[in-house]
Amino acid sequence: KEQPIAVQGAMDVEVSEFLKAMGDYKEEKHGNYSFYVGELEGIPIVVSRTEVGMVNAAASTTLLIEKYKPKAVINQGTAGGHDPNIHVFDTVIGTEVINIGSFRSERMEDGQGMKPEKWIHMSTELRDKNGEKQDYASLPSDPKLVEVAKSVADQYKHGKVVEGVIGSGDWWNREIDRIQWFHENFGTSGEEMEAFAVAQVAHLLDVPYLSLRTISNSEVTDDNIEDLEKAGHYGAEFTIDVVKAIAN
Ligand code: 5AD
Repeated sequence: KEQPIAVQGAMDVEVSEFLKAMGDYKEEKHGNYSFYVGELEGIPIVVSRTEVGMVNAAASTTLLIEKYKPKAVINQGTAGGHDPNIHVFDTVIGTEVINIGSFRSERMEDGQGMKPEKWIHMSTELRDKNGEKQDYASLPSDPKLVEVAKSVADQYKHGKVVEGVIGSGDWWNREIDRIQWFHENFGTSGEEMEAFAVAQVAHLLDVPYLSLRTISNSEVTDDNIEDLEKAGHYGAEFTIDVVKAIAN
């Protein structure tokens, strides 16, 4: 049996377009996580609603890979913009994802306060096949999947498609100085709450991974829009084009 391509979204607005496009599908639950199994123009896919946040993303990705053995995992959905040149409804191909919830602080004394801008990023240690620990400051999307996504970029009509760094953490940041600090120090194009956790599990279980995010809100442009529903749908439309291109 042909291995499916897996597509993830944290929220209904990020998965509903796939269900519409599949028409017929079967819902399967593992724990309280929903997986929707079907076909997209004859291409076997499994759509996974991961729920929001890093732990949900990691848990549902583990189940996804164990139960469905996908040939690729696409984590997609909405994100907040970090780059003043990236606007609401632009889509970012996350060539790299970084955990922006992973920091240590130097000791400061009683009464010295809190200085987030002094925080030092903690990288992530993962064991390789030989049991050796390897240190990752960020994790890459699969380069072949990135190329496929780029090859259909011109089909996206709701904004531009750019390559960039996606920052993940259990955070929704609206402090502009902090957003700029991430952008300047880690090169983030946008932030969301799942990609790094998915990338980590996919890497450890040796499944090719791709991050795609459509900007739904930004504090660093003058867009003045926050529309997760539209961004969720537009991103899913683009992801459908990417799935078709992967299958061909
Ligand atoms: N910050 C954090 N998460 C965001 N999301 C969309 N915009 C942002 C933002 N500015 C996504 C997350 C999560 C949900 C709250 O929406 O990935 O799933």
